[in-house]
Amino acid sequence: MCCRYPGMPKQVYILLALFSLTGFFFIFKTQGNKKKEENAFLKLIPNEYRNGIYLYPANPFSEEKALVGRYLFYDRRLSFNQTRSCASCHDPKFSFTDGYRRSVGAVGDLHQRNSSPLINLVFDRYLTAADPSLNYPEQQLDNPMFHTDPIELGWKGNEKEILRRLNQDQYYQAKMKAAFPGDKDPFTVKNVQYSLASFVKTIISFNSPYDQYKSGERQLSDMEKKGMELFFSSKLNCSRCHGGANFSSPSLTDSEGNLQHYFNTGLYEQYPNSDQGLYQKTLLEKDKGKFRVPTLRNLAFTAPYFHDGSVQTLDEVIMAYESGGKNHPNKHPLIKGFQLKSVERKALVNFLITLSDSSICNNKSFSNPFEKDETKY
Ligand code: HEC
Ligand code: HEC
Repeated sequence: MCCRYPGMPKQVYILLALFSLTGFFFIFKTQGNKKKEENAFLKLIPNEYRNGIYLYPANPFSEEKALVGRYLFYDRRLSFNQTRSCASCHDPKFSFTDGYRRSVGAVGDLHQRNSSPLINLVFDRYLTAADPSLNYPEQQLDNPMFHTDPIELGWKGNEKEILRRLNQDQYYQAKMKAAFPGDKDPFTVKNVQYSLASFVKTIISFNSPYDQYKSGERQLSDMEKKGMELFFSSKLNCSRCHGGANFSSPSLTDSEGNLQHYFNTGLYEQYPNSDQGLYQKTLLEKDKGKFRVPTLRNLAFTAPYFHDGSVQTLDEVIMAYESGGKNHPNKHPLIKGFQLKSVERKALVNFLITLSDSSICNNKSFSNPFEKDETKY
């Protein structure tokens, strides 16, 4: 016996044994709870897509967290001057984007990028257009809350005041307690972020005409089918980058066989200094102008397009690919141009539109829960 000390009374052994048993029980129980919480989340996702999702281990899903997160998401008290909420830049009407080329923060600062549609985020390996350190919504929320250049919600230096504001509200007092039952003071930056992240994860969108076609519930028109063939063809190669459940998972590797996630598509000959994509994080010349592959779901609601919202229509997006993009030393070899008849371009646009799920824009589970004023119940 490894830990037998001479002279230790028998009662101590019994106590130790009991302690380790309860310890095991505790571990099994927490693992059981984790599983239960994960299952509660998986229920939201169609069977065929349940593999390959990314969930932040430190924040097991719970409906209580998602519920309070939904209120926080729409609450203007979340900006320091009570003018903007998450939903100001992520409006369900536009599949959680905002219709602007670049988003506008709480004091009118222009964001460097176009707003992202917050759908099916658990399928995306990397969040935001060009930051490989952000893999989960939980990790991304420091950006909108604490950014100072530009100011988005303006939490920096105001976090105590904003938390106090929320803590004064009886609704949040009850709901934060329910969401974080173990915490003496549930009003922390981390808990606000965990709640918001839990809510945005529930925004699952798989009810597009294309999804209905895949499950045999509807037909696609001849034009849409023609567009689908083009999309998956080796002439256009769209699906080599826009693959997977979310049309955002590339299957291209570099010369060493590593899967690539960021690409230069020749949008500019010289990317502006204000946004050089992945280069801003790695400072490697080869990463200039590289951006993550965005989802192609819900494009019908998310114009304008590209990381800077510089292109207004899907026709123009496709024409940019047809032309093979601008010259850039980092441009991916698959962006080499091709020719389409105008009817084929139309077919491709029609197919892309079949990936849009209009039920997302007024789904009662994600909509604004406030009745009138987004600072009062
Ligand atoms: C001022 C406008 C603005 C506000 C306010 C804002 N966002 Fe965003 N959000 C953006 C923009 C722009 C991006 C794209 C950023 C990028 O690519 O670098 C983004 C990206 C995201 C992403 C990453 C999505 C993806 O596909 O990678 C998440 C998650 C997110 N926002 C959630 C939130 C939440 C939750 C809030 C409220 C706390 C919030 N945002 C507030 C503009 C905003
Ligand atoms: C080499 C990889 C690659 C290939 C091939 C590719 N794309 Fe892209 N796609 C990207 C990247 C990366 C972006 C983001 C670029 C940016 O924002 O600067 C993008 C952006 C888009 C957008 C804008 C989405 C939005 O919400 O802003 C659309 C639409 C699109 N691609 C459609 C297509 C179509 C159609 C094809 C086939 C003709 C195609 N892509 C081929 C990588 C690729």
